[in-house]
Amino acid sequence: MKEDRPSGTAQRVALRRAAHQLIDDPKVFDDPVALRIIGNESASALHADPRQFETTPLSPYLRAFVAARSRYAEDELALGIQRGVRQYVILGAGLDTFAYRNPHPGGALRVFEVDHPTTQAWKRARLEEAGVMVPSDLTFAPVDLETEALAEGLRGARYDPGKCAFFSWLGVTEYLPTEAVMATLRFIASSPVGSGVVFDYMISPSLLTPAQRSHFDALAQRVASAGEPWHAFFDPALLTRELQAMGFGYVEDNGPNEINALYFKDRKDGLRVGSLSHIMSARV
Ligand SMILES: C[S@@+](CC[C@H](N)C(=O)[O-])C[C@H]1O[C@@H](n2cnc3c(N)ncnc32)[C@H](O)[C@@H]1O
Repeated sequence: MKEDRPSGTAQRVALRRAAHQLIDDPKVFDDPVALRIIGNESASALHADPRQFETTPLSPYLRAFVAARSRYAEDELALGIQRGVRQYVILGAGLDTFAYRNPHPGGALRVFEVDHPTTQAWKRARLEEAGVMVPSDLTFAPVDLETEALAEGLRGARYDPGKCAFFSWLGVTEYLPTEAVMATLRFIASSPVGSGVVFDYMISPSLLTPAQRSHFDALAQRVASAGEPWHAFFDPALLTRELQAMGFGYVEDNGPNEINALYFKDRKDGLRVGSLSHIMSARV
């Protein structure tokens, strides 16, 4: 991403989450703050025409995926809390709203939002404009994951590496160099037993069919021309083995079949996710 301006993709995925609240019934991901966080102007535009940001045939698939990955991360977080997790680290948080509707308040779950400093400063201004209160159990940790180690970034944020933590990392890995992704995953793997992570990732283009490849190329071109090119892509089988070698004892890769079976079964509107990305869950 460009150093001097906030992530444009953070705003775009937040628009999709907000559109999901208005368009889809039943909702896969219920987010009562989704419309407030996108700003008055965008929220009014969406209310006037909920499909106004749905500009290509791929739009419903992207909207479905954005909703499903947040739902999955928060479902896995809930399981983590049963295992003893008391720290939730949202990596590349963008306009994620979990901290502002945290169902475990009063210090039961400390939340850390990690993001590129420019995007985080923009989000904080956005929260203030929208009158969304920043809860006392949330800590902001500005970190450029491309150039700084996550451990360093969390050190100053009252994060306790000796306690179980759950990490979500949604819509971010593709924007980082592969080595930065692996370094962050190694740090998470060194967390106490019971810790875990959910992240989504793009499938290596060499594994795609020609039809999937043309969708991939169209999206890749769109994000690159917006100044946030994709860098990291993975082979699911290889990534699974790498996570196991890092020390994750439980690794579950979810492709489109698994995600659609979990969250989009028997829908009358045909909403479902496409096949360019997977969602991984790994536990220490
Ligand atoms: C597509 S947005 C996803 C935001 C959020 N996770 C969501 O699902 O709504 C990508 C996020 O990755 C963050 N990001 C990109 N490069 C980064 C870097 N080098 N360090 C930290 N965060 C980064 C951006 O600031 C942005 O918040």
